[in-house]
Amino acid sequence: MLKMKKPVSVLPYGRQSIDNDDVAFVVRTLKSPFLTQGPAVEAFEHALCAYTGAKYCVAVANGTAALHLAVASLGLKKGSSGVTSPITFLASANALVYNGIKPLFADVDAKTANMSPEALQCVIKKDTRLIIPVHFAGCPAEMKRIDAIARRRKCYVIEDAAHAIGSSYPDGGRVGNCAYSDMTIFSFHPVKMITTGEGGAIMTNDKKFYDRLRSLRSHGVIRDPRVMKKNPGPWYYEMRELGFNYRLTDMQAALGLSQLKKINQFIARRQQIVSRYNAAFRQRSWIRSVSIDDKSHAYHLYVIRIDFRKLKISRKNFMGRLARSGVGTQVHYIPVYRHPFYSRNFKVSYAWFSQAEKYYEECLSLPLFPGLKDSDVKRVISAVLQCGQDIL
Ligand SMILES: Cc1ncc(COP(=O)(O)O)c(C=O)c1O
Repeated sequence: MLKMKKPVSVLPYGRQSIDNDDVAFVVRTLKSPFLTQGPAVEAFEHALCAYTGAKYCVAVANGTAALHLAVASLGLKKGSSGVTSPITFLASANALVYNGIKPLFADVDAKTANMSPEALQCVIKKDTRLIIPVHFAGCPAEMKRIDAIARRRKCYVIEDAAHAIGSSYPDGGRVGNCAYSDMTIFSFHPVKMITTGEGGAIMTNDKKFYDRLRSLRSHGVIRDPRVMKKNPGPWYYEMRELGFNYRLTDMQAALGLSQLKKINQFIARRQQIVSRYNAAFRQRSWIRSVSIDDKSHAYHLYVIRIDFRKLKISRKNFMGRLARSGVGTQVHYIPVYRHPFYSRNFKVSYAWFSQAEKYYEECLSLPLFPGLKDSDVKRVISAVLQCGQDIL
């Protein structure tokens, strides 16, 4: 009989870590009177405030909803413009478009792939009212400089920290404390640092934004008798503006609370894996790591850069070789302006983005998540080095 070769299981680039405590937390909520709009959501919001140092938190259905609402709460004039990074997931720019704001892109820094403050200065226009820097891969953007530019140009700042819960700024403050911004958003998608399945949150220190975000999250409704136009009875509520149902459920919030208790442990493991990758790849001139060793970095992604043209192999073939050795990889990200929707509606010249273009040509994300075993890390390292040896 023909013996079939067992297929190699492929390590993904990211994956959640769920243990029995997480399951118990969720089950307890499932058995409670509240599946949504209950105490777990508020407890999760308080825990996120305590963890980051921000005053207020509004938990929502996902990171995209967080961005959508954060921009909406500013009440910007339709047709004004906002600047974000091209090396990000689509949601950072889509949040501008949902709100009728024209998206502009600032080229990225050659080392970190974060928004370059110099490029930002050049891109900002008279009608620019908002800047959305992205803490790519978990590495904080240069917030001090971006904040200074924003103040000079009278722009709001919303930090897209979908990758960066647990990272710190150079001054030691935690990302999410909004020391350099009006609002900061997180995502709790399963590949992120902690997960709620789908989920997100907006952090702010401004009560005015907090109140509006809470209302927008739930259809634009308010229930506070001190603010309502009238108050005929306890059943009464008012819809003041067009909002959404972007609520997080209590089951999700319970999972988030349980996950947040383990965040330091998750990050410590991510840092350990990054140090091992860096030590193994440091000697190879054909690999450059975007993730330098840094204890203030929570490391959502581990990205390497390879000059595939110089190596005379396509990235597709390189990825295929790694996949056959059981190593899954991904490209983070296709520059946003290259997507058909953006090139059709918001035309740019690729020549304006020399660093983003070069980065996109060379980047490749390797597996990085707390559940990677030491033997998996070794497998990734030897598969990558073997690929190089075969090619060079
Ligand atoms: C930088 C960035 N911003 C926003 C989002 C959107 O988050 P979500 O998937 O929770 O909607 C993501 C998700 O991958 C992201 O990577």
